Amino acid sequence: MSTSNNAPRLRIYRSMNAAPAKTIVFGAGGFVGRHLLAAYRRSDPSAVGTARTSAAGLAAFDFADPSLSRLDGAEQGAEYAVIAAAMTNIGRCEQDPQGAYVTNVVGPLALAEQLHARRITPIVFSSDYVFDGITGSYGDGAALRPCNVYGRTKAELEHRLPEVCGDDYLVIRLSKVFGLRRGDKTLFDEMAARFAQGLPVRAAIDQVFCPAWIDDVVHAVLELQRIGARGTYNVCSSEASSRRDLAVRLAAAMHVSADLVEPISLDDLGESFVRPKRTSMVCNKLWNILPAGFRSLESCLQDIASQYLVRKEVA
Ligand SMILES: NC(=O)c1ccc[n+]([C@@H]2O[C@H](COP(=O)([O-])OP(=O)(O)OC[C@H]3O[C@@H](n4cnc5c(N)ncnc54)[C@H](OP(=O)(O)O)[C@@H]3O)[C@@H](O)[C@H]2O)c1
Repeated sequence: MSTSNNAPRLRIYRSMNAAPAKTIVFGAGGFVGRHLLAAYRRSDPSAVGTARTSAAGLAAFDFADPSLSRLDGAEQGAEYAVIAAAMTNIGRCEQDPQGAYVTNVVGPLALAEQLHARRITPIVFSSDYVFDGITGSYGDGAALRPCNVYGRTKAELEHRLPEVCGDDYLVIRLSKVFGLRRGDKTLFDEMAARFAQGLPVRAAIDQVFCPAWIDDVVHAVLELQRIGARGTYNVCSSEASSRRDLAVRLAAAMHVSADLVEPISLDDLGESFVRPKRTSMVCNKLWNILPAGFRSLESCLQDIASQYLVRKEVA
């Protein structure tokens, strides 16, 4: 792929209270894309989002054929495009490496090249799975050493994005992202739902990561856009914890026995592929921009626990 537009861009810095830049969201049917589109639509109800197949309020856009012309000009006037569509299931990527490559590398690069040619800055999501998980505490510029198909697709996307966009891109490298709504089936909700039924939760002691609340991720993306940031940013909590420790803390917050937490190793999952174990990241660049950091994991755990606590009838 060739770099089609290398003219210097004007970086726009917005004031704190200004509306976000006009942004189109590819993959707005997914967890991250859905929340980002909602944030953009709060100030611009006409913000465009896409899903693989057309859905209410979303245009159809499939990475199998990532031609911007399919949008009939809906991208016009946008300064940024969030590319949140991806094959995100790790096991599925292993079973269908070719499909993972098309969806996570070929499609996003082809789209990013077209966006760049229209002077729209792509915002692309990567993952802590670009690391091998041996040492943990990976900085923004740490060497990428993925150990499974999903991680390899994300690492290749990171490496090749400058080939099509020069330096006019944002890579947001995420750890596990969770919501805090009862029933949203994200990390803590799934644990809390089991605890509430008295069911055990298997949680790995050797999976150490920095999960982040979706609202903090959205805020970070908007803030990076506001200051015109470019390049690659680790975006996750500053607190590294094992899955087991988080489960024990959630059990305490829900006043259920810690015995419901079954400590396991990731190796006990018996998966046919390797998962990186210590994928904690350090967000030095982000904390320069957001010195207050993210909401504490303890506050997040208390929040989800409060939604599952059994309310006693008052006589
Ligand atoms: N959420 C996390 O914890 C996390 C952590 C690290 C990195 N990330 C990265 O952040 C980004 C967003 O993740 P997410 O959690 O929002 O993922 P998600 O909920 O799985 O959503 C991904 C979306 O991509 C769509 N998609 C898949 N294949 C497509 C294709 N060929 N064409 C068009 N759309 C397609 C899916 O549509 P269908 O539903 O139709 O398949 C889905 O709506 C991804 O790049 C992911 O790798 C997420």
